[in-house]
Amino acid sequence: MTQRKPIVGGNWKMNTNRGVASELSRGVVDGLLHTDGVETVLFPPFPYLLLVRSILRDRGSSIKLGAQDAYPQPDGAFTGEVSIAMLKDCGVQIVLCGHSERRHVLGEKDEFINAKVRAVLEAGLECILCVGETLDERLAGHQDIVTTRQLKTALAEIPGDWLARLTIAYEPVWAIGTGKVATPDDAQAAHKQIREFVGHLYGGEIASRVRIQYGGSLKPGNAADLFAQDDIDGGLIGGASLSAGDFVTICKAAAASARARR
Ligand code: PGA
Repeated sequence: MTQRKPIVGGNWKMNTNRGVASELSRGVVDGLLHTDGVETVLFPPFPYLLLVRSILRDRGSSIKLGAQDAYPQPDGAFTGEVSIAMLKDCGVQIVLCGHSERRHVLGEKDEFINAKVRAVLEAGLECILCVGETLDERLAGHQDIVTTRQLKTALAEIPGDWLARLTIAYEPVWAIGTGKVATPDDAQAAHKQIREFVGHLYGGEIASRVRIQYGGSLKPGNAADLFAQDDIDGGLIGGASLSAGDFVTICKAAAASARARR
């Protein structure tokens, strides 16, 4: 089986303030000092990117700096938006695209998400592409149709060799921030189907290397069971990433699952 290093992201969403961002990032850095075998990313709100970067740098941490979103145009009259070049300038290494809150609260469509994914990868950064079905779509038995459509459009015109810098986050919308978590079996089935679809688009070798994270009410108590699944390569964490202790525990569970697979 292909060894994939798990990746765990802490998506702080529109939470924290300067003091909390500082304390939280220090807590995560210190908590993960002696942990390897997992790639970790923090996604603070835009105003705190430089603050978190300086904490990561001062402590020589390998934790990556991520941005929760980006605008695909290079510059111009786009009031309130932030370009990928600006993010790079602030030390950002990885950008979230198509998070369900951007899709469902802010109305982003698959084509626009594709423009973002292309711009992020073209700029040489890494990307986490989020996909996932709503509760109605799941109840109608359409999980697979929805994630396939989201992937197909978001990955249009993305060459296969760029996929080394892409992670897919499977985040069923009904599980995000709700406390309802997909069962390990359901999550594994969705991840396997996503990997097969990547194989259909790019071939088996790329599909076996691409990392697919799970997101949606992931907590210290359910992390190990989810990470034990063959096609789950870490997680994207919202609520639990606002506690340094919980987030560190989840990162360590991902590292332990990777060790167990060796
Ligand atoms: P949650 O959020 O962990 O609070 O469910 C996950 C996400 O939105 O990425």
